Amino acid sequence: MSLETLILAAGKGTRMKSKLPKVLHKVGGKPMIQHVIDAARGAGSSREVVVIGSGAELVKKTIQNVEFVLQEEQLGTGHAVLSAKEKFTDSEGTILILCGDTPLLTSNLLKKFTAAHDASNCAATVLTAKMPDATGYGRIIRNTDGTFKKIVEEKDANEFEKKIQEVNAGCYCFDAKKLFGALEKVKNDNAQGEYYLPDVLTILLDAGEKIGAFRADYADETLGINSRVQLAAADRVFRMKKNNELMDEGVTIVDPNTTFIDVDVEIGQDTIIYPNTYIEGNTTIGEDCAIGPNIRFVNMKVGNKVTAHFSYCHEAEICDGVTLGPYVHLRPGTTIGENVKIGNFVEVKNSSIGEGSKLPHLQYIGDTDMGNGVNVGCGTVTCNYDGKSKYRTTIGDNAFIGCNTNLVAPVKVDDGAYIAAGSTITKDVPKDNLAIARARQTNIEVWNDKRK
Ligand code: UD1
Ligand code: CA
Repeated sequence: MSLETLILAAGKGTRMKSKLPKVLHKVGGKPMIQHVIDAARGAGSSREVVVIGSGAELVKKTIQNVEFVLQEEQLGTGHAVLSAKEKFTDSEGTILILCGDTPLLTSNLLKKFTAAHDASNCAATVLTAKMPDATGYGRIIRNTDGTFKKIVEEKDANEFEKKIQEVNAGCYCFDAKKLFGALEKVKNDNAQGEYYLPDVLTILLDAGEKIGAFRADYADETLGINSRVQLAAADRVFRMKKNNELMDEGVTIVDPNTTFIDVDVEIGQDTIIYPNTYIEGNTTIGEDCAIGPNIRFVNMKVGNKVTAHFSYCHEAEICDGVTLGPYVHLRPGTTIGENVKIGNFVEVKNSSIGEGSKLPHLQYIGDTDMGNGVNVGCGTVTCNYDGKSKYRTTIGDNAFIGCNTNLVAPVKVDDGAYIAAGSTITKDVPKDNLAIARARQTNIEVWNDKRK
């Protein structure tokens, strides 16, 4: 049966106390609403319509390949669905309604849920879960025979109802042809003065329709985020899941409690991740690496057999066999070639470092094209900026840069050239030449005698 999805994301998220729309807060490094969209797509949804309102422009900018509907005033979840009515005039199959603040939903769960609905003759099915702490959720009230009776919101619940642990997960399957007619009958005579989407279920029931209540096996997957405390809890659940997946695929994670790996990160077999490590964005790491302790990688491409610890690297590439750290900062546009050794307070920006080169301590390398087998002495600096523009430095294969060298760009040090320690190089150095660019040493005799 055809499956279309409607995602509710117009609410202010008052309880988050945030300038950012709630659904853009991140879990596992990805905006909550993107998780929900991805789960729907993975479950076979053919299109996604997102109801936006609060912070609409920002949500629009962040989310791609969906259709948007504006809910001008946020009068409740029922009202939010109604505002999307025109988007579904020709719909015939199932409309899956999801909340933008339930980021742990999985495609697997949604597949099972929609399949159960399709196999039934229910006009609607609601997803439920047994929460150890049901505070804040709508409670599922069942008849004595176990069939669905109604949903009572926390604020409208009596003491007895509040004790119920089975909650509304905020996901629904609706027969497209029956949803909107019933929705128009929803009233706002409740504690919050809102048009509640769950009330549609009772309206359909009263009209003689069958309503299903499908309970999720893992309540964690239905966690709704209304506050920062819940955001942290969801993030924790997510991190553990990601870590477990990676470990199942053959990655060693020494301390999962202090390892933070974003949703889209890929890591190869037999790589070891040491504690206090953050691997973020679209990072990929190869096989047999040792990463951490204390690494932050953001949008990095890392090869095989790389060793890295105590460093921060972003938007850069590290090739096979590199030894990196401690205290390296790799900045955007950098490629570190195979078997390079780099560490002990080194910063590299927008540069490529050739195979087997060594940058072992205290260097700043910016806007540089460095060949293979170069040895860069301690304290070398590329002077790439004259206050107005940036210039490039070129260093040929097997060049030797003495300690405390300044390379004033634009400048080229050709293959095999040597630079004497303490030089400030302002002119190109030809192949295999030795450049000395420093004041000659003068020794003054009997200096101490004269002073006396
Ligand atoms: C809702 C359910 C509750 C359920 C819980 C699951 C209702 C009335 N209550 O409560 O039964 O247990 O989700 O997490 O539906 N939204 C709009 N427009 C609005 C109001 C809300 O788009 O006018 C969106 C919000 O952005 C959010 C979602 O709908 O993504 C749910 O709204 P929220 O206020 O978080 O509802 P809950 O109180 O959590
Ligand atoms: Ca919510």
